[in-house]
Amino acid sequence: MENELKEKIAREYSRRISGKSGCCGTRDSSSDTPGFTPSSCSGSDSCCSGDLDHELKGLGEEAGKQSFGCGNPVGLSSIVPGDIVIDLGSGAGIDSLMAAKSAGESGKVTGIDLSDEMIRKARENADKLQLGNRVMFLKGDIENIPLEDNFATPVISNCVLALAPDKQKVFDEVYRILKPGGRFVVSDVVSEQQIPQELVENTELYVSCVTGAAQVDQYYSMIRKSGFSRVEEVVRQDYGAISHGQESIRMFSVTVRGYK
Ligand SMILES: C[S@@+](CC[C@H](N)C(=O)[O-])C[C@H]1O[C@@H](n2cnc3c(N)ncnc32)[C@H](O)[C@@H]1O
Repeated sequence: MENELKEKIAREYSRRISGKSGCCGTRDSSSDTPGFTPSSCSGSDSCCSGDLDHELKGLGEEAGKQSFGCGNPVGLSSIVPGDIVIDLGSGAGIDSLMAAKSAGESGKVTGIDLSDEMIRKARENADKLQLGNRVMFLKGDIENIPLEDNFATPVISNCVLALAPDKQKVFDEVYRILKPGGRFVVSDVVSEQQIPQELVENTELYVSCVTGAAQVDQYYSMIRKSGFSRVEEVVRQDYGAISHGQESIRMFSVTVRGYK
């Protein structure tokens, strides 16, 4: 079941990057997502991710449309030259490429994604910016990160964990690959209340980063259980609401930071 779901997610994001864009699936396709009312995130063309780095304008007008995030983890992770950055669910690579600019020639960025088409697009974007071996993209599952222990300095992720069925495993993996003292900065979708199981099983809502979202207190419990300290919520924004019968379940996009 989990594998089937992940295959569906990979297929869906390959389809979306091949022309049908969506902010974590929700803004552009929200009218086709019954039961979910998105918030109108303001101020940017690139979904809720904030303005794209000027230097990424080298990718042309398409760059904004290729960003499917719900926050700005790069801007909030204080990346410096020499950082070894891992971007979980890197999509078309927009955050990875911005991170590579900050990590400089002595740094290195690795993006990981399930979708072949996303990996292909991310490599094409990196080539356009002539970033050489400062950035690489690997196909893989963030619940089993195909990388060694204790080496990353920041791990970033933008609107991906809401798609992972086992978020505890993802946070455990993030902890494993981070160097002691390293940090994670993750933008993600969470819900105010537990999402009813029947909605979680609705794969259409799930792949749009809506019903796979964790309840916010449980989200923080998982992070602490993995061993992180100094965990803080840096940003919280309204993300919309799911209607379920008479109930309305509020959703938030949050950006969270923590240290190993
Ligand atoms: C909403 S998009 C966000 C992409 C990118 N972070 C951005 O901000 O544009 C979610 C991405 O996560 C990837 N993804 C979902 N589940 C994953 C998993 N278990 N392992 C790796 N990638 C995953 C999808 O293929 C998709 O590219």
